[in-house]
Amino acid sequence: MTSGPAARTGTFTGAGTGRKPVLAVVGATGAVGTVMLEILSQRQDVWGEIRLVASPRSAGRRLAVRGEETEVVALSEEAFDGVDVAMFDVPDEVSAQWAPIAAAKGTVVVDNSAAFRMDPDVPLVVPEVNAHAARVRPRGIIANPNCTTLSMIVAVAALHAEFGLSELVVSSYQAASGAGKAGVDTLRAQLAAVAGSSLGTQPGDVRRAVGDGLGPFPAPLALNVVPWAGSLREDGWSSEELKIRDESRKILGLPSLRVAATCVRVPVITTHSLAVHARFENEVTVEQAHEILASAPGVVLVDDPAEGEFPTPADAVGTDPTWVGRVRRSLDDPRALDLFVCGDNLRKGAALNTAQVAECVAAELTTP
Ligand SMILES: NC(=O)c1ccc[n+]([C@@H]2O[C@H](COP(=O)([O-])OP(=O)(O)OC[C@H]3O[C@@H](n4cnc5c(N)ncnc54)[C@H](OP(=O)(O)O)[C@@H]3O)[C@@H](O)[C@H]2O)c1
Repeated sequence: MTSGPAARTGTFTGAGTGRKPVLAVVGATGAVGTVMLEILSQRQDVWGEIRLVASPRSAGRRLAVRGEETEVVALSEEAFDGVDVAMFDVPDEVSAQWAPIAAAKGTVVVDNSAAFRMDPDVPLVVPEVNAHAARVRPRGIIANPNCTTLSMIVAVAALHAEFGLSELVVSSYQAASGAGKAGVDTLRAQLAAVAGSSLGTQPGDVRRAVGDGLGPFPAPLALNVVPWAGSLREDGWSSEELKIRDESRKILGLPSLRVAATCVRVPVITTHSLAVHARFENEVTVEQAHEILASAPGVVLVDDPAEGEFPTPADAVGTDPTWVGRVRRSLDDPRALDLFVCGDNLRKGAALNTAQVAECVAAELTTP
């Protein structure tokens, strides 16, 4: 820790004057950045200037935000001149290098990458769960959790507050856009290659049709599911599976929470789903769980299987809430619930949560 939180509240001097903080969106041209510009155009406008930043490849491009065409500038130290809050929607290594540079200039950084999430001096914030944590940021950086954790954590945290969580066993069904624009382009190209065919009936027929076009995935995604997301870590776990464990523990303030995750990529463009087995300290009932979930901020309960009503990615995509259904009490354990959760990985899973965190900072900076 280099300095106290008070020393890192940025350079904003407009509290009580009506002046609005200046925002930079770094990575404005990417999958998350594109959704961020939509969200900034839809939400209550708390920002003064919005500066768009990307790699030198995109400098000079014009993108629309809040209905105005805005020129993209290349990432540089000067790009943060006069910026109060910067959202970083860029690869890990770019955040690792540039977020501290921005923070050193007094800009409060809200980072979407994995670069700082587990840094003990960087809060990992989901406003519905731990908004207070955003105020204590010794490095001037606040981290946004990964999209898979974010897609379930608001619902899980609401149940935890009532029943006391002791264990999570989750399987994810992750969308292609979780792997950025490259993931979406790859899935669309693969779907075009298999559309209208009778492929999917012989070993290897889909692989042959897709050829070299695997993109960021280790196996064909069209007409398939792929039990892998992220990179290989010790003992066969993937980085994505470890993120769910580590980040859930940090957000919920439960450092010893037992978590087992299996991450699976499915041929969905956007919206991650998770099958969650959650075990609690106390006995649970479906009625209580329904009540909690139905009134939890940011959660929508859709749970009527007799009517065919439950969340699916195709229905949840493009929306803000965490959708929950298929709530059952474990047949073998009165303290455990099984549920199915869907969340748009580019909205609540990334851009929306970042926007909410940045708005908390804006409110803090502008309060006299
Ligand atoms: N996709 C998701 O569901 C998701 C969810 C949560 C968090 N995240 C995280 O959010 C970040 C962005 O992900 P994404 O999916 O939006 O990736 P993406 O589609 O590949 O976009 C990457 C963005 O970073 C910019 N960029 C790349 N290298 C740069 C450099 N050297 N200097 C400045 N800008 C650079 C790109 O600009 P150019 O267009 O100019 O190259 C682009 O705007 C990643 O850290 C990712 O892990 C993603």
